[in-house]
Amino acid sequence: MAFKIKNVPSFIVFLLFLFFFTTVNSDAGGNWVQLHRSIGISAMHMQVLRDNKVIIFDRTDFGPSNLSLPNGRCRFNPRDMALKLDCTAHSILYDLTTNTFRPLTLQTDAWCSSGAATTDGTLIQTGGFNDGYNKLRTFTPCPEHNLCDWIELQEQNLTTARWYASNQILPDGRIIVVGGRSAFSYEFVPKSYQNDKSFYYLRFLRVTRDSNPGEENNLYPFLHLLPDGNLFIFANRRSILFDFYRNRVVKEYPVIPGEEKRNYPSTGSSVLLPLNLTGLNGTRLPEAEVMVCGGAFPGAFNFANRKKVFLEASRTCGRIRVTDPEPEWVMELMPMPRVMPDMLLLPNGNVIILNGARNGTAGWENAANPVFNPVLYKPGSRRFELLAPANTPRMYHSSAVLLPDGRILVGGSNPHRIYDFRAYPYPTELSLDAYYPDYMGPEFVPFRPSIIAVEAALNTASYNGTFSVTFSLQEFRGRVSVALVAPSFTTHSFAMNQRVVVLAVTEVDEVAQGAYKVTARGALSPTVAPPGYYMLYIVHAGIPSVAVWVQVK
Ligand SMILES: *[C@@H]1O[C@H](CO)[C@@H](O)[C@H](O)[C@H]1NC(C)=O
Ligand SMILES: *[C@@H]1O[C@H](CO)[C@@H](O)[C@H](O)[C@H]1NC(C)=O
Ligand SMILES: *[C@@H]1O[C@H](CO)[C@@H](O)[C@H](O)[C@H]1NC(C)=O
Ligand SMILES: *[C@@H]1O[C@H](CO)[C@@H](O)[C@H](O)[C@H]1NC(C)=O
Ligand SMILES: *[C@@H]1O[C@H](CO)[C@@H](O)[C@H](O)[C@H]1NC(C)=O
Ligand SMILES: *[C@@H]1O[C@H](CO)[C@@H](O)[C@H](O)[C@H]1NC(C)=O
Repeated sequence: MAFKIKNVPSFIVFLLFLFFFTTVNSDAGGNWVQLHRSIGISAMHMQVLRDNKVIIFDRTDFGPSNLSLPNGRCRFNPRDMALKLDCTAHSILYDLTTNTFRPLTLQTDAWCSSGAATTDGTLIQTGGFNDGYNKLRTFTPCPEHNLCDWIELQEQNLTTARWYASNQILPDGRIIVVGGRSAFSYEFVPKSYQNDKSFYYLRFLRVTRDSNPGEENNLYPFLHLLPDGNLFIFANRRSILFDFYRNRVVKEYPVIPGEEKRNYPSTGSSVLLPLNLTGLNGTRLPEAEVMVCGGAFPGAFNFANRKKVFLEASRTCGRIRVTDPEPEWVMELMPMPRVMPDMLLLPNGNVIILNGARNGTAGWENAANPVFNPVLYKPGSRRFELLAPANTPRMYHSSAVLLPDGRILVGGSNPHRIYDFRAYPYPTELSLDAYYPDYMGPEFVPFRPSIIAVEAALNTASYNGTFSVTFSLQEFRGRVSVALVAPSFTTHSFAMNQRVVVLAVTEVDEVAQGAYKVTARGALSPTVAPPGYYMLYIVHAGIPSVAVWVQVK
């Protein structure tokens, strides 16, 4: 295949320098920049799409937002509890390149729903509330002039109402939707397979549900597809390895130590730590480790909800090597307690924990004491580091996603029943922030790789196939890795489908002055990296490049 190294014009490098020096100060712990004081809606759900746009939405029964629908469009719903004739938007498409956004139209209520990007990069969004309980909606990236919008599917529905469910993309490209309020079951989307029952009972979800009113503590279960093709499911304090093809629990893991509950409304978070294919020679499956952080103690929801007494949240994280024959939880202490933490994986393999509060639980008016400082966790050294504080409390109904340029997009927070822009001390937040991790600081510019080209047919990182990426760099320090990062659907402190796969690097060569070529082997199998669009980052000495999108198939 034809392939050429293009010279990066020096004025671009200069502009990059200027950009970093003018927008970002160089203190350790990263930096916060407000992108918009108001995007008109509150960022409750977010998903980055393969065209560098971010789809953001809250709910249709929130009252009037601060953004009108275009062309005098309105939505009339006689059953809407807040506003029957609503001419405002509850979703936007945010363009990362231009820092602009446009309103989108949701027809039914996507509140507390779930989602995933399909293999072709279409967002499929599942469930919600009321007229949205059983709904499937899609959004497919489109060219600028196209003004594409949400499509509400008519020919296909969820068979069970799913409100507070979680999704995972599967190795065969389908999506599994697990749980939801009073939904002790799972189902697949789409149901294109023969013998695909409408839904499957999952006892685990019933036994992990607490029976105190309001205190389910098993909603938005944490799902992680493991390299052996089974699904790790965590709810409340328990977890299982689940074979969804055979509807069979393969293994029950030990209960996480400590009294704390980890799922909604005692909301904690969870990540599958990076799957590292380095040194496995393309034959062995990688080990996998899950990390669960934060949450609330028993009774915290009812103390908050009924008495407005906000118990201190959990300070612990648990790590478990789920692929071990006899897995054990290893507990660690965060620098501070946190409920509603967003946990995001960075391209360099570290974990950032941000947003949320020190006291209380998820739910309306149920938390106090926002935690402004994100925390960085390095899985290798098991160290936590305190990062630069945000300016805005991000309480219930806030969210965060990793961006292709290495920043983190942070928005939302509305702990109220409807929009309340004047509430004190936690108004409905319409603002959108970017957090610049430490690795974006000016002192790291010389080590920051810039991808010039991906040498692979149609930008495809095919399974087991080798492909090359050329990049430029001012100062070579060795330690080059290639990381595939799946963009998450984030809501309620859980980044669904988030995944970092560190590929095996076979060669790094200098191909011209300051230009390098790294050759890597694609992921071993769809169980390691389910098919779809990933952000591919070159990470050099711990400093990630801006990502390019590649398709894994
Ligand atoms: C709503 O948007 C307008 C600009 O369109 C802005 O001036 C106003 O402050 C926004 N309101 C809130 C509550 O953010
Ligand atoms: C899906 O649900 C809608 C109501 O929301 C209904 O009109 C439609 O007929 C359903 N479609 C199928 C295929 O069941
Ligand atoms: C990699 O695996 C192949 C096939 O099993 C084997 O022939 C080769 O020696 C291995 N290479 C290394 C470096 O282990
Ligand atoms: C990749 O190679 C491994 C080891 O040879 C094999 O087990 C696996 O099936 C291959 N994956 C694909 C998608 O072909
Ligand atoms: C948070 O919890 C601590 C420990 O229980 C308590 O002392 C403090 O008053 C609580 N803060 C709020 C705002 O409720
Ligand atoms: C992957 O594994 C290699 C070899 O063990 C190690 O040097 C590297 O730091 C690991 N990368 C990540 C992101 O964990």
